[in-house]
Amino acid sequence: MSNNSLSITDNRTGKSYELPIENGTIKALDLRKIKASDDDFGLMTYDPAFTNTASCKSRITFIDGDKGVLNYRGYPIEELAQHSNYLETAYLLLNGELPTKGQYDAWSDDIIHHTIIHENVKNLLVAFRYDAHPMGMLMSMVSALSTYYPEAKHIQDPGNRRKQIVRLIAKMPTLAAFAHRHTVGMPFAYPDNDFGYCGNFLQMMFKMTEVKFKVNPVLERALEILFILHADHEQNCSTSAMRGVGSSESDPYSSTGAAIAALYGPLHGGANEQVLRMLQEIGSKEKVPAFIKEVKESGGDVRLMGFGHRVYKNYDPRAKYIKQCADQVFEVTGRNPLLDIALELERIALQDEYFVKRKLYPNVDFYSGLIYQAMGFPVDMFPVLFAIPRTVGWLAQWEEMLQDKEQKIARPRQIFLGHERRGYVPIGARS
Ligand code: ACO
Repeated sequence: MSNNSLSITDNRTGKSYELPIENGTIKALDLRKIKASDDDFGLMTYDPAFTNTASCKSRITFIDGDKGVLNYRGYPIEELAQHSNYLETAYLLLNGELPTKGQYDAWSDDIIHHTIIHENVKNLLVAFRYDAHPMGMLMSMVSALSTYYPEAKHIQDPGNRRKQIVRLIAKMPTLAAFAHRHTVGMPFAYPDNDFGYCGNFLQMMFKMTEVKFKVNPVLERALEILFILHADHEQNCSTSAMRGVGSSESDPYSSTGAAIAALYGPLHGGANEQVLRMLQEIGSKEKVPAFIKEVKESGGDVRLMGFGHRVYKNYDPRAKYIKQCADQVFEVTGRNPLLDIALELERIALQDEYFVKRKLYPNVDFYSGLIYQAMGFPVDMFPVLFAIPRTVGWLAQWEEMLQDKEQKIARPRQIFLGHERRGYVPIGARS
């Protein structure tokens, strides 16, 4: 018997089985041969929310949630945040290696030359009500792009795939900024190739009547860092949506639309918006203890938004870095008055038995909103600011999935607990 195996005895039949262990996992399909009788379907695992199921083999992002480690393609997130920029990190995530100077220049040139959106897309945008949430607008516009690029459905063609990847990464800031301009009733500011990826986004967001927008280098760098920190996070809810939808061979625009929908939720990328609303509602540092009490007594109904994580049972390394980044931004913009409430919440929560016992620490969303708000972004743009950089993570994971011979259309099983077969009752005979 191999040491790298699991022995199982089925007490229903007394039979024993030996299942190979590979990379710390057993294959769920190996359990199928464990049957109580010949006509038994075979054993399955029950794992709602996939808390202990690996759905893929990946070489992109590594997380050690207990130690608070996050690496992209082996590079620690802290080193990338310190030395890299968003487009370089995007190249790394997609290609597995940091680019040479020539590769980087060609890559960023390609992105810059795909930032413009078809003029007709603006007609879609103006059809939205003035108070439409920008994440809803972004989701719809990204999905609509599949009709502008019908060739995107040829997902098995690597060259075609790369073209759509470039388009999506390049157009996401344009769509996001246009959604914002629609909300505030400002004329759209078109992409300007003189700026870098983040600088261009800032000018499309905030340009007024000036001929040339001046980007503050500190704020531009802060946005680069925030985008790097949000670029990928392995098999989270939205990435699983991207892989799941993409597994049916949908085009990348439709799959990205689905990923944006998953990210929108308040338990995922919508949390940064909810953190700000929570801080505004608490209102002052003095009211923090009463709010913490409310969270603890609610039995899970009221959550301290921006706290807790499925994978991190330690301080989220991204939150740690963002906290440092906040100081630099506040030097330019002035201190966000909500910071005091956030710091007090963190101080009390990290000492409180309830949070300590459950290993609840600040996550990426706890401080990012404070920075975005200080930079002038409206609160409902926060999830959009998550979706822009996460696009490359979704696309890298999508492409990895398509190239993985072991992957098939995603299709989980169920445990059926409903009625067994029964006869139809005519409406007049029902009680
Ligand atoms: N505030 C208060 N209690 C919490 C919180 C929180 N933020 N998060 C978890 N808990 C409690 C739960 O009530 C539960 O308590 P119990 O054991 O007494 O029932 C326990 O901690 C475990 O919580 P789960 O919901 O089982 O943890 P799970 O891994 O499923 O959830 C999640 C992770 C969704 C992130 C959760 O911590 C949460 O809702 N946090 C707030 C929302 C948030 O900040 N989301 C952003 C996450 S980061 C990202 O997606 C980018």
